[in-house]
Amino acid sequence: MTRTKTDILVLGSGIAGLTFAIKASRLFPDRKILVLTKTTEGESNTRYAQGGVAAVWDLEKDNFEKHIADTLDAGDGLCKADIVRIVVEEGPERVREIIGWGADFDKVKDASGYDLAREGGHSEHRILHYKDLTGWEMQRALMEEVKKCANVQIAEHYFALDLITQHHLGRMVIRVTPGIECYGCYALNKQNGEIDTILARVTVMCTGGAGQVYKSTTNPVIATGDGVAMAYRAKARVENMEFMQFHPTSLFNPAGETPSFLVSEAVRGFGGILKTAEGEEFMQHYDPRLSLAPRDIVARAIDSEMKKRGTDCMYLDCRHLDKEAFVAHFPTIYEKCKSIGIDPMKDMIPIVPACHYTCGGVMVDAQGHTSIQRLYAAGECSSTGLHGANRLASNSLLEGMVFAHRVAQDLPGKLETWSFQEDVPNWNAEGTTDPQEMVLITQSLKELREIMSYYVGIVRSNVRLKRALDRLFLLYQETEELYKTTTISPQLMELRNLITVAYLITRSASHRRESRGLHYTTDYPEQLPFVEHSVL
Ligand code: FAD
Ligand code: SIN
Repeated sequence: MTRTKTDILVLGSGIAGLTFAIKASRLFPDRKILVLTKTTEGESNTRYAQGGVAAVWDLEKDNFEKHIADTLDAGDGLCKADIVRIVVEEGPERVREIIGWGADFDKVKDASGYDLAREGGHSEHRILHYKDLTGWEMQRALMEEVKKCANVQIAEHYFALDLITQHHLGRMVIRVTPGIECYGCYALNKQNGEIDTILARVTVMCTGGAGQVYKSTTNPVIATGDGVAMAYRAKARVENMEFMQFHPTSLFNPAGETPSFLVSEAVRGFGGILKTAEGEEFMQHYDPRLSLAPRDIVARAIDSEMKKRGTDCMYLDCRHLDKEAFVAHFPTIYEKCKSIGIDPMKDMIPIVPACHYTCGGVMVDAQGHTSIQRLYAAGECSSTGLHGANRLASNSLLEGMVFAHRVAQDLPGKLETWSFQEDVPNWNAEGTTDPQEMVLITQSLKELREIMSYYVGIVRSNVRLKRALDRLFLLYQETEELYKTTTISPQLMELRNLITVAYLITRSASHRRESRGLHYTTDYPEQLPFVEHSVL
């Protein structure tokens, strides 16, 4: 059990965490910056991003107003217009910056410019990409750049458990308590099983999304909503959690595979067409933009067609596309399909929607401040107002970089005024014993994902949401009991965090008496005339 002090504590090493750490290091070369990451430095949602990063680049055809209009349209009335403008206008500068740090994006054949792709909901080609491995390339560049920052230490296999606030000093803290402050976090050192106290002047949460709350997701196993759950426990405001985005096209693998492999939306931007098993197009029944309509519309259309036909999947037809160009753009997707016996040039690719992105999260303002002082959030764990009720494709990597920058810019003049809170007690593990049966955790996790997938999926209703809440309450009680009596493990903490996230999604969904963006309920199929954010 150690006590550590760091000037700046960063939770997470994806695009938001590493971009912030690099920027903070340059602004504060004499301050200590500690990045905790719960597995290895390179494992994150970021690493799996395929399609790319959206930014206004080709000024002959594109402009900020068009990107803003597309983002607002996808967000279905719930985006914060000022935030959309900030991200769209500052985005290209952040992309140029990561290019300067060594990130490579594909160029057109004569290398005269970037090969800009198009995805659902975008009116122009504006997605910079590196083959179908954009996230891997960006993560690589960030990891190399951060190594140049002498005052940044990355602690791998450190699992942040809880944010430290006045609550840990024995004071009563409720959600409306004014002046809640964050003094750092308790973290489990997975290598020795000890729980360390990490004190910080400021904490920046960049813990990513929560796709693992559903049975079928494109998100890697790290995406368990730890940050959102931690922040909620610390009494931060969390908003818009009902808007969980399902990606329309994850690869349907009859052998079962988790996480689900993504077939990038860029494949549709490249000419892939959604079809039935009989080879008929169906998107004309749902949206004039056909296969390139925004994600909420396409995922719901696929779900509806599958239910109507009683099938396990629909199809993406790429057989008419040029093989050489397809393989050059999508080498990973091509190889993956081949590995399960599908040749995209001869067979239609079987696809099915899978949970992909957490649009809501810890509520922040334009500088990334949460409702707790000395706590910032950036990236997928945060809710900035950019995505509204449905995120526009490839706007997430962009948002992560823009907000990491804005958080760093907010610190000069403030960091020096925040001191370490020395009287924080160490973690108290008294009265806990090693778990007797791991199955108590694994089975609850399975149940949780089934509940969320059956009752809080793409189509919802009052009855389904009520069932989900009742069952979640039982899981919550059982898990809290385990938590009080059992030695802390990452598995137990992830289960606990996922139950909290599931509760936040379901409760926000129950409150929303309308259908908007990613939230569709058969009880209220229309939109309300006014717009409300669900703040918990
Ligand atoms: P992440 O990259 O997920 O990083 C989170 C970090 O926090 C990780 O290092 C994790 O280990 C750490 N962490 C989490 N909990 C804890 C804890 N308790 N303690 C310590 N560390 C913790 N977006 C786009 O814009 N374009 C795309 O093309 C695109 N494609 C995608 C494809 C796939 C398959 C997926 C899954 C997502 C895609 N997205 C895409 C979304 C995008 O990748 C993510 O939203 C974005 O990368 C999130 O970045 P982040 O830094 O917020 O979080
Ligand atoms: C994709 O490549 O389809 C994912 C893009 C995104 O999630 O923004």
